[in-house]
Amino acid sequence: MSTSDPTRRELLKLTAATGGALAAGPFLPGAAPPATAQTAANAAPAPLNVTLRVNGSEHRLTLDPRTTVLDALREHLRLTGSKKGCGLGQCGACTVLMDSKRVKSCLSLAALMEGREITTIEGLAQGERLHPLQAAFIERDAFQCGYCTPGQIMAGAACIAEGHAGSAQEIRDWMSGNLCRCGAYDHIVAAIQDAARATGLKG
Ligand code: FES
Ligand code: FES
Repeated sequence: MSTSDPTRRELLKLTAATGGALAAGPFLPGAAPPATAQTAANAAPAPLNVTLRVNGSEHRLTLDPRTTVLDALREHLRLTGSKKGCGLGQCGACTVLMDSKRVKSCLSLAALMEGREITTIEGLAQGERLHPLQAAFIERDAFQCGYCTPGQIMAGAACIAEGHAGSAQEIRDWMSGNLCRCGAYDHIVAAIQDAARATGLKG
């Protein structure tokens, strides 16, 4: 007999005495979880001090460790260019660059991004000079409502830098993680092709 047997025996006796409600309680529809479990689940984790480097500047923040990069940008740094669409990594509206690579900021934890260089749409232009892709989006009328546009531009800039802008089809393939509910895809592809030509980074 193991040392845990008395405890197990007591639990079985208690379960029998309560008609199984103790053991089955958490699984019954509508049953409230035990108070201690509820309290533990509701307790917020201790905040963390996090230093984020965004668009060339360092920001010291105190964050709930569950904070995403997107929420840190929008809610704490007031950089609202990156948009929250699905919050599930499916639409690309939140795309930013992390060490020049595109990432979906709604899926990235801010606390894990210390030491990385984050670039948002607010940091893409050089002062008053637009990034060639920003200029091409205007020239090509590559947006309607504009909600997906910051994410499209960040992903498009990475697509060009990665050398994946060799043809319209290649651009479509490599931009497939960025959705546009307005259906401005043809114009977005044309803008990326223009910018790739302008920067000499076509495929
Ligand atoms: S909001 Fe991040 S992918 Fe949709
Ligand atoms: S321009 Fe409206 S979602 Fe793309």
